[in-house]
Amino acid sequence: MKRKSLLISLIFLLTILVLSACAGNVESPPEENSDMEQESDSMEEGMDHSSMDDDAIENGHMSHDEVVSLNGSTGENELKIPPLLESDNEEEVVYTVRAQEGETEIFDGTNTKTYGYNGSFLGPVLQFEEGDTVKIRTINELDEETTFHWHGLEVSGEEDGGPHNSLKPGEEELIEFEVTQEASTLWFHPHPEGKTSEQVYNGLAGLIYIEDDNSKSLGLPNEYGKNDIPLIFQDKTFDDQKQLNYSAAMNDDGTIGDTSLVNGTLNPKLTVGKEKVRLRLLNGSNARNYTFKLNTGDSFVQVATDGGFLNKPVTLDEITLTPSERAEIIIDFSQLNSEDGLALINEEDGSILLPFEVSGQSGEDSSIPEEMNDISITEEEMNLPVTKNVELFGMMDMVTINGKKFDPERIDFTQDQGVTEVWEIYNKPDMMGGMIHPFHIHGAQFKILSRNGEEPPENERGWKDSISIEPDETVKIAIQFKQKGVYMFHCHILEHEDNGMMGQVKVE
Ligand code: C2O
Ligand code: CU
Ligand code: CU
Repeated sequence: MKRKSLLISLIFLLTILVLSACAGNVESPPEENSDMEQESDSMEEGMDHSSMDDDAIENGHMSHDEVVSLNGSTGENELKIPPLLESDNEEEVVYTVRAQEGETEIFDGTNTKTYGYNGSFLGPVLQFEEGDTVKIRTINELDEETTFHWHGLEVSGEEDGGPHNSLKPGEEELIEFEVTQEASTLWFHPHPEGKTSEQVYNGLAGLIYIEDDNSKSLGLPNEYGKNDIPLIFQDKTFDDQKQLNYSAAMNDDGTIGDTSLVNGTLNPKLTVGKEKVRLRLLNGSNARNYTFKLNTGDSFVQVATDGGFLNKPVTLDEITLTPSERAEIIIDFSQLNSEDGLALINEEDGSILLPFEVSGQSGEDSSIPEEMNDISITEEEMNLPVTKNVELFGMMDMVTINGKKFDPERIDFTQDQGVTEVWEIYNKPDMMGGMIHPFHIHGAQFKILSRNGEEPPENERGWKDSISIEPDETVKIAIQFKQKGVYMFHCHILEHEDNGMMGQVKVE
C-alpha cells in the first residue's frame, strides 16, 4: 500500500514535470490534457492490479470512475437508534462525553473492536436549545490522543476541538459555550492531527440536535425514533476476523468500504407508520459520496441543510451528500405504495441502504409548512468583493490548499469577528480530471452565493458548513464568524484532511 502510493505520487510528480515542461504552464490546453490522461492511463495499466488494495485504488478515486460498490442491506436487523444523552444536572445543560474503546456485535456472534462515545460504537445524540449555556465534560479514555470537535457549531476556537485542543489519554476538559445558532442537525467527531480518519473510521461520531422556537412551532414530525429518525451513513471494510483494520483498508485518496452501516447497524431496516417521517441524514463516511433516492423513484421533500431550515420545502427525486454534509428530508409514507417494498437506495451504485417496513398503522396527519425560515442573501453580500481565495488541488497524499500542506504553526488567513467576507473556493483539476472535494469550515455557518457564477440550486439556499465542489468548479460563499479563535478549513475526505489538505483562519 505504502509503496503503491509512493509510486503513484512519483508518476503524478513526473507527469506534472512533463506537463509544465511542454506547456510552460500547468493550465495546459485541452489537447495536451487528454494526452496526459492517456499517458497516465497506460502507466496505470502497466501496474499489477492483483491485490485488494490495488482494486481499491483502481475502483476508488484514482481512475475517477467507479467506486467499489456497497453490499446492499438485506433488511434483517431493525435499525439502531442512538440514545438521547441526558443532562447530568436538572438546572443546567451539563453533559459528559467520553471517547472510549469497546467491542460491538456488528455481525451476529462476533465482537468487533470499535471506538465510541459513551458506549462502544458511535455516540449518543446531544440536545441543545438556542440560548442554552452548555457545559460538556470531555474525557479521553482512549490509549491515544483525541479531540472533541463540534462540527457546525458556532463556538470559539478554544471550544471547537480542532487539532490544537488535543487531550492525551486519561485527560479531561470542561468546556462551556452558549448556543447562539438556530435549529439544526450538527455532529461531533475527533480531530487529532493526522489521526482523524482512523478514529472516525473506528466509530467516533455522534449527532447534535439544536432546537429553537421556530423548530418547535413548525409542526414537522418530531417524535424521536418514531417519525424523526437520525441516520448516520458510513461504509467500512471488515477483515476475515470481522475486524476494522484501518491500516489495511486505508486509501490515501479516501477510504471507501464495501459494507454499508446505518447508525452502526449492518443490514438495517426501518419500520415506519403510514405518515410523514423526517429523516436526518448525515454522510458520516470517510470519503464516499451518497446519492439518496427512493427505489420507487418517488420524490421526497428536503426541509433542512447543514445548519438550519430552508425557507421553503424543496421537492427532490434524489439528493447527494458528500462526507460531513447533512440534510433533513421528509418522506410521506401515507402516499406511497409499499407493496413491492420501499427502500432508500444509493443511486451511485444502486445498492439498498435502508429498506422500510411500512406498518398498517396510520400516524399523525401533519403538513409541511410553506414558510420555514427566512435566510436570504442581501444585496450587500452579493456585491462584496472576494477577499479570500482557496484553491483545492491534488490527490492521494499530494493534496494541498493554495499549494500548501497543513502546518499547525502557520495561520493562512485572518478575518475579523462579526464581519462578513466572501471566500472563493476553486477545485483545480489535475491531469486525470480531478475529483470532488467536500470543503468544510469550522466555527461558522455560511451561505452559498454562487456555483460557477450561477445561483446555487434551491436546496442549497440554506445554512451550510460543508460543500461539495466539483473539479474545475468555483464556489463563492459569504461567511461570518460570531466567535474568535483559530479555526480549521479543510477537505472532509478525512484522508485528505490528514494528508494536509487543511488550513487555518484566525478570527480576531
Ligand atoms: Cu467535521 Cu474539521 O470537521
Ligand atoms: Cu468541523
Ligand atoms: Cu479532498
